[in-house]
Amino acid sequence: MGEIVLAAKIAHVPSIMISEREGPLKGKRAAAIAALRELGRRARERGADTFLVFDTHWISNFGCHMNANARHRGVYTSHEAPHMIQNMGYDYPGDPELGDAIAAEAARDGLQVLAHKVETLPLEYGTIVPMHYMNERGWARVLSVAAPIFASVEENRKFGAACARAIAASGRKVAVLASGSMSHKLVSNEQVGDGQWEQVGSEFNRQMDLRVLDLWKERRYAEFVRMLPEYSTKCNGEALMADTHMMFGLLGWDGYKGETELLCPYFPSSGSGQIIAEHHL
Ligand SMILES: [Fe+2]
Repeated sequence: MGEIVLAAKIAHVPSIMISEREGPLKGKRAAAIAALRELGRRARERGADTFLVFDTHWISNFGCHMNANARHRGVYTSHEAPHMIQNMGYDYPGDPELGDAIAAEAARDGLQVLAHKVETLPLEYGTIVPMHYMNERGWARVLSVAAPIFASVEENRKFGAACARAIAASGRKVAVLASGSMSHKLVSNEQVGDGQWEQVGSEFNRQMDLRVLDLWKERRYAEFVRMLPEYSTKCNGEALMADTHMMFGLLGWDGYKGETELLCPYFPSSGSGQIIAEHHL
């Protein structure tokens, strides 16, 4: 039988990588880097075969999609922020079998999910950035899931639950990552510059993010999922927080009871709010 060995909400913001270069951000994301590395270490220690990544940076308009290629190999430059992530090589084994199993399980629940094996379908940076720190030299398989921005919260919840059932029926040990921001009101173009990294773009959003972290720390998940649809839209969710809908679907939605452990302090990036946290099972 398969098993979820780790579930985490993570950040993938380019400022993490930029902080390793010379410049005003140098060293300022050390806590986030250490948190991603720690999650990678835990996943490996627990025998993970595969990282299943709900990637809010891979946005789909039509339907639900997985990149189920047998191999993910390429040189990545972000089309959205080519000055931030450029010519980044990646090479990871993929997991077409688990992709097919998830698609079949989701279909049983009336969802149409496609597990693509298309060599020219690349990974997006919501997967590539965390894998850079968590999956060095490709010790684990990678299965990346797009964020369908016109899907309902309920569809995303059902998809996450289908992932949990498919993993349980598989022979895999899987580390699951919700890769996306908390609130996501980005800075305006006029604010772009050395100061863009230091503040959450809206005090309302920052307060809501902190409240969500309190609810998680107090294990008040039933209240959290009740507010999640409004939180997703009113706090400018990245891909409407599809990753978080899927993750809580996978964890059991309002029935989840586990501990949430923050692995780094809440931090701003270009107006968004970021956290790296393990949802213990
Ligand atoms: Fe993003």
